[in-house]
Amino acid sequence: MKQIELAKTGLRISAQCLGCMYFGTRTDRKTSFQILDSFVEAGGNFLDTANNYAFWITHQTGGDSESLLGDWMKDRGNRDTIVLATKVGAKPRAAGTGLENVEGLGAETIVRGIEHSLERLQTDRVDLYYAHLDDPRTPLAETLEAFDRLIQAGKVRVIGGSNLSRPRLEEAMEASAARRLAAYSCLQQEYTFLVPREVPTQYHSIVDPALQEWLRRHSDLLLVAYSPLLKGAYSQPERLPEAYQTEPNRRRLEVLSDLAKQTGATVNQLVLRWLTESTPAVVPVVGASSVAQLRENVGALSMPFERATFDAMAAARNDAL
Ligand SMILES: NC(=O)c1ccc[n+]([C@@H]2O[C@H](COP(=O)([O-])OP(=O)(O)OC[C@H]3O[C@@H](n4cnc5c(N)ncnc54)[C@H](OP(=O)(O)O)[C@@H]3O)[C@@H](O)[C@H]2O)c1
Repeated sequence: MKQIELAKTGLRISAQCLGCMYFGTRTDRKTSFQILDSFVEAGGNFLDTANNYAFWITHQTGGDSESLLGDWMKDRGNRDTIVLATKVGAKPRAAGTGLENVEGLGAETIVRGIEHSLERLQTDRVDLYYAHLDDPRTPLAETLEAFDRLIQAGKVRVIGGSNLSRPRLEEAMEASAARRLAAYSCLQQEYTFLVPREVPTQYHSIVDPALQEWLRRHSDLLLVAYSPLLKGAYSQPERLPEAYQTEPNRRRLEVLSDLAKQTGATVNQLVLRWLTESTPAVVPVVGASSVAQLRENVGALSMPFERATFDAMAAARNDAL
């Protein structure tokens, strides 16, 4: 599988990241291990989890995905070949509660959070540590100083942000520069080929035009796209979220369907490859609940993909239909 550098960090990551959110909860241990093995066999090395996955399935506070990854890496003896990303800040304070009651990004939470994550992951370092959600109640300097100390201590290699609006991303980058602290190397947001209707989002999770414009001018900050397959909606249209049910998206889906017929690729593969081929490249964090899904998804990187297909998709996305 093609590898790229994670921004200018020196970390080499596979062009697809495996989303491990449901491993150990919705996806059982045996299947999760098989999916992880298949990903590595295909040349993947970049894994994504969080300290709160998947609390909404267990009605606890999360950590099952990290524990499963820790067991898998120990069993396979492959920690040093993996680029491991996890997140802090969106763990509910109490079982049975949700994102309205998260721990946030205070220094104490981060210091405690990394220790618990390292324990579950059975490792001494996390390669990429994300701030999972914006936390307007904690000064950015406090969060970034705490992350910087973890880097100095060798517990974290690089940091990233997630679910940030453009103004908050800009503030964070400026705060790091002004204090000479480590800055975010990547931003993890919801992003895919279809374009959501402008919806007020409580957690600023989507790449909106303002953020996109900023990212275009800062190609050293890598965009990592979560839910790139819209949780299976490209192959199961009844799953299409309300925000994506628009007339331009209906036309985009027609273009995708025609291209799939012409090229022999699946619609999911076209979407994933389009992200990879974008300039600057976008790294999709792709979830899979079976080995068959995983194989289809990683196959996106090795299938033939002509420039004309990319151009047709780019035109459709830009609405030039
Ligand atoms: N930073 C954040 O706040 C945030 C938020 C959400 C997710 N994430 C990360 O992003 C990862 C992916 O997110 P996601 O699971 O929401 O989105 P996704 O990758 O768009 O969707 C994954 C789901 O799509 C279906 N699917 C995948 N491949 C398929 C295929 N080839 N054919 C048919 N269906 C297929 C499966 O659904 P079924 O299992 O139902 O078949 C799978 O569980 C997560 O694991 C997590 O690491 C981060």
